[in-house]
Amino acid sequence: MTKAHIFDVLVIGSGAAGLSLALELGPDTRVAVLSKAELSAGSTYWAQGGIAAVLSQNDSTAEHVEDTLTAGAGLCHEDTVRFTVENSKAGIDWLTNHGVPFTREQDTDDYHLTREGGHSQRRVIHAADATGQALSNTLQERVRQAENITVFEHHMAINLITSGNPPHRDYHCKGAYVFDTRTEAVEQFLARSVVLASGGASKAYLYTSNVDGASGDGIAMAWRAGCRVANLEFNQFHPTCLYHPHAKASLISEAVRGEGGLLVRADGSRFMPEYHPLAELAPRDIVARAIDHEMKRSGADCVYLDISHKPEEFIREHFPTINQTCQRFGIDMTKEPIPVVPAAHYTCGGVMVDHNGQTDVPGLYAIGEASHTGLHGANRLASNSLLECIVFAHSAARDIEERLHTIPDPEPVADWDASQVTDSNENVVISHNWDELRRFMWDYVGIVRTTKRLLRARNRVMLLMQEIDDFYRNFRISSDLIELRNLALTASLMIRCALERKESRGLHFTLDYPETAKQAEDTVLSPFVTGANPLERINVQEILH
Ligand code: FAD
Ligand code: SIN
Repeated sequence: MTKAHIFDVLVIGSGAAGLSLALELGPDTRVAVLSKAELSAGSTYWAQGGIAAVLSQNDSTAEHVEDTLTAGAGLCHEDTVRFTVENSKAGIDWLTNHGVPFTREQDTDDYHLTREGGHSQRRVIHAADATGQALSNTLQERVRQAENITVFEHHMAINLITSGNPPHRDYHCKGAYVFDTRTEAVEQFLARSVVLASGGASKAYLYTSNVDGASGDGIAMAWRAGCRVANLEFNQFHPTCLYHPHAKASLISEAVRGEGGLLVRADGSRFMPEYHPLAELAPRDIVARAIDHEMKRSGADCVYLDISHKPEEFIREHFPTINQTCQRFGIDMTKEPIPVVPAAHYTCGGVMVDHNGQTDVPGLYAIGEASHTGLHGANRLASNSLLECIVFAHSAARDIEERLHTIPDPEPVADWDASQVTDSNENVVISHNWDELRRFMWDYVGIVRTTKRLLRARNRVMLLMQEIDDFYRNFRISSDLIELRNLALTASLMIRCALERKESRGLHFTLDYPETAKQAEDTVLSPFVTGANPLERINVQEILH
């Protein structure tokens, strides 16, 4: 018998989005929060720069909206941008009321606001250069104190449980099969509402600022359950990750440029003024592409970020964590430039949702980086992600509370069937496929694309998916296999989106269509539309299992 847990709301993910939603639900609502590792797993804990919000008297909603639309390169949904920005101050007030220790000005005691690329104003509230850690620690503490919330660490959702038949009205999400990564048992979590707050998919790329776990699980699970996804071609590359053979996923915050850091070549000359009037503070897609171009042109392995002209004390005060990381690798950022390269950072597209985080499947919500709300368009404005997590966590929580009493407790479902599988003696296939996937995504679906490269990537991902599917059906599951299966599916959706966009816009730049079209729409993929290509049909069959 599969162990069954019954709750009112099942939250899959414990980052900024999942924890905020759990805390916003009423005290009588029984909530389960799952994390596939510790509660601090995911990108939130590692966020550096801060959270964008209209907090200064010199700033306005109109300006924050305008900056977001400009960065988004014509694809943001203006109503969503307005909704998010209008709720930004309330979101920050909620965080400060919960006790998040944001940095204050030394003389006035007002919150210190920093600046990042694409922002016309100082509007990024932060906790030095470790905003995510401060936010995550505070919310974790509150969640652990809440009597109505039960935390399940090391519990990895495998698949969503649905009842009824799509697209009929009785179709409903009512839980998930979950793998306990320590006991290796599969359990049922049943709930009246289910929330995907499972983060992005930047682990699809060989070089990334994300820690392990950003494997697009929520996007893949939602797709398999029948949700549309959108704009997955827009995976954001952060311009400045530390370049060092032993530095894995070490971001150098955009706030370093916001506070005066300059991008230079090995000979010390600046290059960003040659690419954009805002130079180092141009939107991220432009800075990442400029660095990529400089590296390819000169054959250099990296460029440099130099803030050593600022007083040592200033650097130590504003960037204590980054300074420490650099020191660990023998770099003194107060005296010398930091070697940097772009790396995959943020999944702008995701599961399509409305302003309440509701997906296409009744009872299923998606919030945070897993979702596509329309806020980011073709390129996310720096520090708008944590803002989106908080704002949509709150609207989704309100919507769930309003509907909860109309939804009956879920009926028990079939046990997880592992009777046909055996232990694998070929786990090398999993690690090989992980490496292969991430390398061809980097080489063929990276900062600069061509149709030929995308087609190569599509052929390879389809083969990998068949192999992984075979493995999944015949062998006992493991966390690596679950993540690989999800990452391969999400990567295939990224490639399909990229192939559908026949123009260059924001983060999607292709040499075959270098112009930006006069008008453009979101790239929307539906699991219920079979592709004309037989390889895509394999994909569709796979997702319907
Ligand atoms: P995450 O914080 O990524 O959390 C995902 C959660 O889902 C984790 O708990 C994980 O365990 C869980 N999970 C995933 N799959 C499963 C599964 N199958 N079963 C169970 N649990 C699962 N944005 C900003 O706005 N400002 C910044 O300063 C900033 N800095 C950043 C710095 C770095 C280094 C990185 C990587 C990102 C940064 N971002 C920043 C982006 C931002 O941090 C993320 O977009 C945001 O934190 C995502 O939050 P989330 O709650 O959606 O997901
Ligand atoms: C950073 O600090 O540069 C990251 C900010 C973000 O990704 O929004």
